[in-house]
Amino acid sequence: MSVLTELPAWQSLWQHFSETRHLHMRDQFLNDPERAERYFLEVGDVFLDYSKNRINDETIRLLMQLAHEAGLPDKLKAMFKGEKINTTENRAVLHVALRNRTNSPIMVDGEDVMPKVNSVLDRMGRFSHAVRSGEWLGYTNQPITDVVNIGIGGSDLGPLMVCSALKPYGHPRMNMHFVSNVDGAQLKETLKKVHPETTLFVVASKTFTTQETLTNALTAREWFLRHADDEKNVAKHFVAVSTNQKAVADFGIDPANMFEFWDWVGGRYSLWSAIGLPIMLYLGVENFTELLNGAHIMDQHFRNAPLEANMPVLLGMLGVWYINFYGGGSHVIAPYDQYLHRLPAFIQQLDMESNGKQVMHDGQSVDFETAPIIWGETGINGQHAFFQLLHQGTHVSPIDLIASLERRASLPGHHEILLANVFAQAEAFMRGKTADEVRAELSGQGMGKEAMEALVPHKVFGGNRPTNTLLISRLSPRNLGSLIALYEHKIFVQGVIWNINSFDQWGVELGKQLAKTIHGELTDKLPPATHDSSTAKLIDLFRRYNA
Ligand code: F6P
Repeated sequence: MSVLTELPAWQSLWQHFSETRHLHMRDQFLNDPERAERYFLEVGDVFLDYSKNRINDETIRLLMQLAHEAGLPDKLKAMFKGEKINTTENRAVLHVALRNRTNSPIMVDGEDVMPKVNSVLDRMGRFSHAVRSGEWLGYTNQPITDVVNIGIGGSDLGPLMVCSALKPYGHPRMNMHFVSNVDGAQLKETLKKVHPETTLFVVASKTFTTQETLTNALTAREWFLRHADDEKNVAKHFVAVSTNQKAVADFGIDPANMFEFWDWVGGRYSLWSAIGLPIMLYLGVENFTELLNGAHIMDQHFRNAPLEANMPVLLGMLGVWYINFYGGGSHVIAPYDQYLHRLPAFIQQLDMESNGKQVMHDGQSVDFETAPIIWGETGINGQHAFFQLLHQGTHVSPIDLIASLERRASLPGHHEILLANVFAQAEAFMRGKTADEVRAELSGQGMGKEAMEALVPHKVFGGNRPTNTLLISRLSPRNLGSLIALYEHKIFVQGVIWNINSFDQWGVELGKQLAKTIHGELTDKLPPATHDSSTAKLIDLFRRYNA
């Protein structure tokens, strides 16, 4: 038995669950006019309405008691202090240092990391300014017009999501491209759109050993040299972002063109570091700094707010309530802003690669559920795709509805329709539609009794489906920074409750190892290995189609 399931609050929560699971939010709102006021939080320009959850004051009290009993306050301090909480890799976890705008010292192995954080930021700033101003010229003395980021996972999803989200802030001359897939098609289609004379490649890889990234980078380099001839021109068009200087040099990028970060920055937490170079190239230093400022605002809130008024803690503990007590195996991220269309994919890696674990820090297997399946799409499109299941399916999944209040980037009349849908969906998921309401509606349409009764069961909505409504004043660098940090810390909270290491990712290693062997077989560099009959058959099929 794990310590968690023995905690008094865990036991009380099970009791509370059996006492409250049949309550309907519709009644809770009717009986408690203050509910929306009480279950609402704001941090900077981020607003959270969590009143449409299966909770009451006792639920919140017990969830906070659980957070205390699981040691969350001390674990939170340990992360910010730079303690090596990534126990299996013996590393600190300090993405918060990358946006530590107070510059207070943060020690790792006896060294304050802030000077080197700031010196990389300065270098990034000078380089970005040179590229954006046209001071940095390509091998034919033309300014850069296209940036191609070659990376995958945390070296792709974060910069891609932020550049997509903040397009209105982007430099008018800069076109951003992100290549992650090793399928050849993505790189080929990208290279069709750019010219070697005016393209800057950013090879982003924390380890600089990721096969997909190095393969794409080598092919891009070959493509470049077919046009630029002289190797010395590479330096004007290739920079690297990594922790591995030797591997960068071995690849053929001058370390002078390398922007470093450190092993205490997790890949999926790295967009605040030099991995964010494409963001700075696109948005400029000021907007990148605003992104950092926004994250810092959320960091300070996370460190200082009491647990019951702490936005990341509330989101994290509400998730624990559904995952561990309601048995909710999935969680939907539904941004309504098209600029945020890559947010679900970003949060998917952030959450599922952090907490998709089944072994606790001490090596014992968990005896409870951990990370949910994170999925999602822009909410407005989801309404015409999978909201049917969310409203009337057998699978209940909490949903984060995310939107900006200001219509600034919208066309006249569009934003009101968008926000009406956000608010309507939250209301519909909460209240549903009773059989009597369906009958009243259908009889109002003149439908006969027999036909009506046949249709009623199909048109009833049970409601009581939980949502969080997360609103930001506008989709600005600062508010986006706060929103991203909110999810980083929510995930941290859940990892603490489950006593798992949210910051390693051993689960990605086996596939890579086996791929190396099979790649050797497919390219005839290795003799056929012994495989199960299925894998052997698939390899044989590949051979037949590519003989
Ligand atoms: O394989 C998973 C992973 O290690 C992610 O954690 C990481 O973000 C991604 O691959 C890319 O790793 P790298 O930045 O070292 O190329």
